[in-house]
Amino acid sequence: MADNKLQAVKLDSDEYQRFWLNLWDAKATRWDKGDVSPALRELISEKHWQLPNGQGIVPGCGRGYDAMFLASPSLHMVGADISPIAVETATKLRDTKQIPSSLVEFKELDFFSFDVPRDKYQVAYDYTFFCALHPSMRARWGERYAEIMAPGGHLIALMFPLDKQPEDRDIGPPFLLSKDEYHRVLDENFELIHYDPKCKTHDDRAGVEVITVWRRK
Ligand SMILES: C[S@@+](CC[C@H](N)C(=O)[O-])C[C@H]1O[C@@H](n2cnc3c(N)ncnc32)[C@H](O)[C@@H]1O
Repeated sequence: MADNKLQAVKLDSDEYQRFWLNLWDAKATRWDKGDVSPALRELISEKHWQLPNGQGIVPGCGRGYDAMFLASPSLHMVGADISPIAVETATKLRDTKQIPSSLVEFKELDFFSFDVPRDKYQVAYDYTFFCALHPSMRARWGERYAEIMAPGGHLIALMFPLDKQPEDRDIGPPFLLSKDEYHRVLDENFELIHYDPKCKTHDDRAGVEVITVWRRK
């Protein structure tokens, strides 16, 4: 996802935000696949997963492909990113695709501290965001989803990068993850209702991605 030099950066909660802003400034967005995640497209378009209506959010949305894909007249999407460059780029892309802002908006927001709308979110999509956070922030990530999601809401988490025996869990991003790690921080407030280890993946991410859906209790 990042070059070797960045792989060696050890992030903590104080410096990670600056780290991401610098990557966008330097156009070092090597994680960007330029399209919707194949697993998400398959889940919605081929397996016809029924999402609740209302409003949805993609934290750490980058250039916004997934937020634009999920948006519909019955599901207003917000793509949220701390980088103003990401927000501007995603907004331009949306306008180029002539997708109306009534369906999807991109906002400069910190996932951990923005004001949550009164009705909360009925849908969230997390991909390459959990793994972008230092392991010390994982419990807070799970608590924050519990805060922002409405009861019955669906958190679609495309698990990545999965590794059964990661050599060093403290070096990243991306920080290696396991299914157990998602359970550890989500189980208190979410129920796992979909787990598909055979989901479609990006070619170079086969075997390290699994799509899941978690229902807010
Ligand atoms: C690895 S990139 C993934 C982007 C996108 N999901 C994709 O797959 O192309 C992680 C993104 O999270 C953003 N980010 C990091 N911390 C954030 C935070 N606290 N709130 C919102 N966005 C954040 C970064 O600016 C970056 O765009």
